[in-house]
Amino acid sequence: MVAIRLAAEDDFEGWREGARALAGAAVPPQEVIWIVGEAGGDLFGGEDAPLPSGGAAFAVPRAFLTLAETAICHSDPERFALLYALLLRIRSTPGALEDEADPLIRRLQTMAKAVRRDIHKMHAFVRFREVETDGESRFVAWFEPEHHIVRAAAPFFARRFASMLWSILTPELSAHWDGEALAFGPGASKADAPDGDPVEEVWKTYYASIFNPARLKVGAMVKEMPRKYWKNMPETALVGELIAGAQAREAHMVDASRERTGSNALAAWQAVREEARGCTRCPLYACGTQTVFGEGPVEAPLMFVGEQPGDQEDLAGKPFIGPAGQLFDRALGEAGIDRSQAYVTNAVKHFKFERRGKRRIHSKADAGEITACHWWIEQERTILRPALTVALGATAARSLFGKAVTISSLRGRPQRAFDGGEAWVTVHPSFLLRVRDDKETEYARFVEDLVRVRERLKEVA
Ligand code: URA
Repeated sequence: MVAIRLAAEDDFEGWREGARALAGAAVPPQEVIWIVGEAGGDLFGGEDAPLPSGGAAFAVPRAFLTLAETAICHSDPERFALLYALLLRIRSTPGALEDEADPLIRRLQTMAKAVRRDIHKMHAFVRFREVETDGESRFVAWFEPEHHIVRAAAPFFARRFASMLWSILTPELSAHWDGEALAFGPGASKADAPDGDPVEEVWKTYYASIFNPARLKVGAMVKEMPRKYWKNMPETALVGELIAGAQAREAHMVDASRERTGSNALAAWQAVREEARGCTRCPLYACGTQTVFGEGPVEAPLMFVGEQPGDQEDLAGKPFIGPAGQLFDRALGEAGIDRSQAYVTNAVKHFKFERRGKRRIHSKADAGEITACHWWIEQERTILRPALTVALGATAARSLFGKAVTISSLRGRPQRAFDGGEAWVTVHPSFLLRVRDDKETEYARFVEDLVRVRERLKEVA
């Protein structure tokens, strides 16, 4: 039996070093015991045996390392052994990782998915409270993750709240930011975290200002924000009140929230874009090359929303650069709109396609995928608060209005988006590429819509 001691539950580097040495010496998985921290010291006579040595180095696919780095944060005690078993298999059978039906690979992928989801929940549901320490203001939060994710999740908060001093306390580990560097310390108990103070009021105001009555679907809310997180979130106490005043609130929403767009907007947008890279909210994340997030200045008064990235966008990681994007650019130019001053994004951030031979053929995003991806458009809109938004086609319109609509019934008049912002609807540029009859007329109508938007922008921005 060989015992490998890891420094912490999420010690990927320790696992990697141990696994490499074990694989080099061809030690079978059942002969290895993985120990975390000081645990089990006596069992093995106090002194750890040196790692086996002498095996030849070997390369593993990047996808395996990504999987291992994430799955290692899972709370399942078997994860180290399972990953080691997979490593041995990859070594003897290159390409083994591609067999997604394999139970071992599926189990590890499910673990990685649970970890990503836990990180996502932590990013979304941590709530800071302000405390004074040594004359300085520090923001402290309590959170109870399901997996060992604190180290993986913390850089997001460092980017998003770079100018604050903050600490996040969890039962296993605490994370601290001093404005320059992240540090990790021992776990804490809920009693160590402050419970209710002025920052709660700030959060409540913030939440109230982004609250959207149209979004109030209790089932969806519980799914997105499981009840176990509610107790740590001051704004959940507000929900009843908010529902009662919902109608009146709607009218004020755009004005009030626009005031939020300040110097932190860029940092907030960068943090959200970063988080979206690891999005697993719907199965599409497994199809495309990458998340294609929106692009453009965060202070842009004009937002364009398309359907989803196409083949070229998926490869480049940028929206609207393929054939539809080129037509869009031409029409914008003719309408006198400078694309570099607008924010361009999509309702769905992953490419959905069917393979035909070597080609990847676009396939339409369904209602579930549009709903799952709505989270990101909400984040983008909360940060940017554009004065005007243009929905390009039916999928974008569905995302912005929260229901299926027909373009012809809404075109040419201002509409209200789900968050109260002003939205205009027109066709998608790829419709102009496809249409056979009256191609020129349809294109001219599209340019006319854009001109109307440019004129309206002068009035409202
Ligand atoms: N079509 C879209 O809707 N978005 C893109 O980014 C490209 C094509």
